[in-house]
Amino acid sequence: MPYPATRPRRLRVTATLRRMVSETTLAPDDFIYPLFVVHGVGVRRPIGSMPGICQLSVDEAVAEAGRALGLGIPAVLLFGVPATKDAVGSENFADDGIVQQATRALKAAHPELLVIVDLCMCEYTDHGHCGVIRDGRVDNDATLEILGRAAVTYARAGADLIAPSGMMDGMVAAIRAALDGAGFAETGIFSYAVKYASAFYGPFREAAEGAPRFGDRKTHQMDPANVREALRELALDVAEGADLVMVKPALPYLDVVRRVREACDLPLAAYNVSGEYAMIKAAAANGWIDERAAVLELLTGIKRAGADLIVTYHALDAARWLRA
Ligand code: PBG
Repeated sequence: MPYPATRPRRLRVTATLRRMVSETTLAPDDFIYPLFVVHGVGVRRPIGSMPGICQLSVDEAVAEAGRALGLGIPAVLLFGVPATKDAVGSENFADDGIVQQATRALKAAHPELLVIVDLCMCEYTDHGHCGVIRDGRVDNDATLEILGRAAVTYARAGADLIAPSGMMDGMVAAIRAALDGAGFAETGIFSYAVKYASAFYGPFREAAEGAPRFGDRKTHQMDPANVREALRELALDVAEGADLVMVKPALPYLDVVRRVREACDLPLAAYNVSGEYAMIKAAAANGWIDERAAVLELLTGIKRAGADLIVTYHALDAARWLRA
């Protein structure tokens, strides 16, 4: 029945009715909050391109995670900034490395907090690449061995989930084997299964101090033009034993989120990355956009596309706004 019998606006007449017919809900339980952990005590070093986000020493990370928990956010995603970098990223697989220290402190202070540790080599290596370099190229299989060793140190420190983000072939299988071999069969793998070579990681590379010193990441991260390839990457990670999967970035890839959602029944996250955050913060700082409305809209859009969980630097603000 067309107009005038049918009037979709009837369902939009009052705020209560709009709320009751809303198809997508957003809650603090959906959020994963990234933390950049550095050596030292009492350090809160602001990241210029990410207003509101700081590099944090372990004690400050514990306090920040407490604030997140207090707002109902259940999980953090840790990135470590090491004291020294070398060719193989040694601090990444040191039991007293910064991310291992942070994991222990966070689990001791907040046992109910879910601690996810990002696993890659780029923050830890002097060349800034996501793997071992041989003849000027990332050596996939030599990298897998190091990823497995690092994952075991994270698990030993108490990490709930290991999140490999380096897009190496076979990374999920190698990490699963290493964890199982070390007695950590219950530690899960949250795979960045579908990760694009994106210009939107720029601010993160300042935050995590992990920009490549030469070249780029296009030999391992995916071409933004591809979606069939995303489904292949997804299928491989599922077959290798991933427990949860991620698509990254989020906003230019909502169609990919939808395709992945339809292709797989594992929990799915989308990563609302640093460049997406920086754009919103810059526009808001100039008075060009209503930050609160824009953030709640984009997070709702990511969920509507099919994500169960959202990794986002807006987590604390969004949780506060959802409560208000
Ligand atoms: C790699 C990693 C990156 C991000 C998360 N893990 C950077 C990259 O791949 O170059 C980006 C996250 C963001 O931009 O917010 N360890």
